[in-house]
Amino acid sequence: MNSSIQAAVVGTGMIGAVHAAAIRAAGGELAGVVASTPARSARVAEAWHVPVRHQNFDSVLADDSVRVVHVCTPNALHVEQAEVALTAGKHVICEKPLATSAVEAERLTRLAEKAGLLLAVPFVYRYHPLVRELRDRRLRGEFGAWQLIHGSYLQDWMLSENAMSWRVDPADGGPSRAFADIGSHWCDLVEWVAGVRFTELTARLGTTVPTRPAGTGTSFTTGADGPRVEVRTEDVATALLRTGDGVLGTLTVSQVSAGRKNRLWFELDGADGSAVFDQENPETAWLGAQDGARLIVRDPGHGSAEQRRLSRLPAGHAQGYADCFTSFVADAYAAIRGEKPEGLPTGADGVRSAHVVEAVLRSDASLAWTDIDPARAVLVAGA
Ligand SMILES: NC(=O)c1ccc[n+]([C@@H]2O[C@H](COP(=O)([O-])OP(=O)(O)OC[C@H]3O[C@@H](n4cnc5c(N)ncnc54)[C@H](O)[C@@H]3O)[C@@H](O)[C@H]2O)c1
Repeated sequence: MNSSIQAAVVGTGMIGAVHAAAIRAAGGELAGVVASTPARSARVAEAWHVPVRHQNFDSVLADDSVRVVHVCTPNALHVEQAEVALTAGKHVICEKPLATSAVEAERLTRLAEKAGLLLAVPFVYRYHPLVRELRDRRLRGEFGAWQLIHGSYLQDWMLSENAMSWRVDPADGGPSRAFADIGSHWCDLVEWVAGVRFTELTARLGTTVPTRPAGTGTSFTTGADGPRVEVRTEDVATALLRTGDGVLGTLTVSQVSAGRKNRLWFELDGADGSAVFDQENPETAWLGAQDGARLIVRDPGHGSAEQRRLSRLPAGHAQGYADCFTSFVADAYAAIRGEKPEGLPTGADGVRSAHVVEAVLRSDASLAWTDIDPARAVLVAGA
């Protein structure tokens, strides 16, 4: 029974609200919320109908009934908050990026492993039923050897030169913005679906909006007047990728592409067929063959066991992002109860992602092909 799991959410912005809804939809109990100030915590608790009014994070940690903490704050706070929660004996669901450095992501993951506690990371696009369908078809050999892997993750919410967010400042968001924020999702998803491991990349980062309004906090767009700050994180990124087997890939990432809201898109081209998934149209996926192409439709009555398991609604009754979150939280809670749900992204995936992001930053600085595994990078450099 999920109902035995009581959860607290720290950080009550955009994604904190999504977690709160997912906790309840997954059968958990929202037992506490912590916002940036005690007054705001009380306001959010009332608005979200949370019975217990915790004043701050310490009082959540001291509450023995809380078994899992959902860390939904700006990136730079993740490690510190996840660490104290793990140390207090709580399981942790920590938003991506798990940490703003690979060293810290590794340290956190080791801490959770040593404590025997769950550390899950919401790479939630793995929870679209048709993503599971494509993965299953790949596992059954339907596509053959990969020829090419390509795609993009495009948004437009930073297009205005007057758009600002805590993500822009490396002190709050980390040294990479667009790539760590959304490129990380694409890499996690594609590696998992295609069953590949990118081993090296060459990446370039671009900042198209040189200054933005001063100020931190939740994302906002303001008027043209007022003080401005220099932007030190990227609006766009491009990467050429290569897997250990020599398969080539390309990825384009942008937060400034007009009209693109959350377009995570990938194409996997195999010797025996191709597959396309578009996060903004997750109820269908495209399958290509040399003699034609077709769309498959999410349907709990057809397809792989995992597609059926994650179909929360009948075919034709659109599922989307929020359903991914519910399924992810349900699987995380199942893992807390000792089950082993398929494809639950954990600390190890957060570490992997941090290494990819660091390789992107190293490559942009050196203008060179760069090994993603840092141990290998050192070996090559010293060879
Ligand atoms: N998995 C996903 O698909 C996904 C999607 C969006 C965001 N995220 C991640 O979620 C995190 C939050 O992003 P967001 O879009 O919700 O940002 P947001 O700005 O909407 O919310 C962050 C909230 O944290 C609060 N906060 C700041 N300091 C705090 C503190 N010390 N204690 C408690 N609360 C504090 C802020 O006041 C704000 O309400 C980021 O790490 C982001 O990368 C993940």
